[in-house]
Amino acid sequence: MNKIKHFLQFNDFGKDEMELLFERTKWIKDQYKSYKKYWPLEDRTLVMIFEKASTRTRLSFEAGMHQLGGAGIYLNTRDSQLGRGEPVEDAAQVISRMCDAVMIRTFEQDIIDRFAKNSRVPVINGLTNEYHPCQILADIYTFIEKRGSIQGKTVAWIGDSNNVCNTWLQAAELLDFNVHVSTPKGYEVERDGLYNDKYYQEFKDPMDAARDADIVTTDVWTSMGFESEKNERIKDFTDWQVDRDMMEIAGKDALFMHCLPAHRGEEVAADVIDGPKSVVWEEAENRLHVQKALLEYLILGKI
Ligand code: CP
Ligand code: NVA
Repeated sequence: MNKIKHFLQFNDFGKDEMELLFERTKWIKDQYKSYKKYWPLEDRTLVMIFEKASTRTRLSFEAGMHQLGGAGIYLNTRDSQLGRGEPVEDAAQVISRMCDAVMIRTFEQDIIDRFAKNSRVPVINGLTNEYHPCQILADIYTFIEKRGSIQGKTVAWIGDSNNVCNTWLQAAELLDFNVHVSTPKGYEVERDGLYNDKYYQEFKDPMDAARDADIVTTDVWTSMGFESEKNERIKDFTDWQVDRDMMEIAGKDALFMHCLPAHRGEEVAADVIDGPKSVVWEEAENRLHVQKALLEYLILGKI
């Protein structure tokens, strides 16, 4: 229907666009930290549609729009017509006539793809069952801030091959780094050619995945939408906890990352997430800064 730029998956952007985005993030963050007003999105509106719970995503998009001079409007499935069966295509037609961008957190990727096809404005993926691209933007930006370029580095993913893991795999191919994945049996990465196996290796033992890694990262054992599997997953994932021994075996400057919210004593030991190698609060804060750069890019085009 149109040539609008969306951010539905990490690889919707090319390497050059990612580099530009990280440069802009630094500039926008510096402005914010020095209390300088920057209002490129004055009178612009972002609609945020949530079909699942959120703290960080809602807050960072809403605060981000406000700080850029615009506004964010929150809609959820419970108190809008979206939860009463209005076709996603119709919702896209209507919503996109009243705003400058839309952010959606939903279930299947297909929902956001259909919305985008019928939207007059850019659509941003705020998490689907398959992907969480804004999170990986923030995580990679955090790594760049702390350690420099991620090219050639190794990320150890310990746990469920979920939306966050899938996005790391897309990012690895785009930005040329490696992912070591260790999942329990039955929770492996989908092997249907979605991800380039030049950029990831699978390990039965999570300690082997973590060895010499530059980032060790994990996520909840049960993602939103999979709650009915919770008890089974608690049993299956017991040995996939990032603990102090795992951080010891990683590279000496390794960082621990987690998209949050976290469950101490499940996927991560308290002394790791609260320990000196953890950068989880910086990751959360950087959601704000990278998404401001993303909004500026999608709404105004190249700056
Ligand atoms: N990491 C993340 O997306 O957090 P929320 O679920 O709180 O938005
Ligand atoms: N994998 C998690 C991420 C939450 C931010 C979920 O989808 O619930």
